[in-house]
Amino acid sequence: TEITSAVEVIIDRWKNEEGPLLPILNGIQRELGHVPRESLPIIAEALNLTRAEVYGVVSFYHDYREKPAGRHVLKLCRAEACQSMGGDAVAEKLQKLLGIKFHETSADGAVTLEPVYCLGLCACAPSAMLDGEVIGRLDEARAEEIAAEVRA
Ligand code: FES
Repeated sequence: TEITSAVEVIIDRWKNEEGPLLPILNGIQRELGHVPRESLPIIAEALNLTRAEVYGVVSFYHDYREKPAGRHVLKLCRAEACQSMGGDAVAEKLQKLLGIKFHETSADGAVTLEPVYCLGLCACAPSAMLDGEVIGRLDEARAEEIAAEVRA
């Protein structure tokens, strides 16, 4: 398949380097926008690892996506400073407004919701990032605006 050959090209580029697994996963995510399940056994075989080892690494790092992202990617900070400033309530609200939970993409493909652990914006907590742009001082009103924006 197309995915298989893209994955093989990336594996070939890195497999003889030291510590090739992360560069390969990063390359696949960059190229395909996600790390498809079907790439894991190919990587495992090429690097002489078990599938469980590869899967363990993929699931350890929150940045790898298993499925393609939606048109918008909304990352909500789940780290301590943001939590203590009402981050939980905003996260609840946004999950309700968008009809998805963390790590999910809305059925219309509009938005993917992901957690992040500190955006370096603790002074403006709770914070988020929408399509790479940081947003500080999130509250319920701002959450509603964001939900409307990603749906538009
Ligand atoms: Fe959320 Fe630092 S804890 S930005």
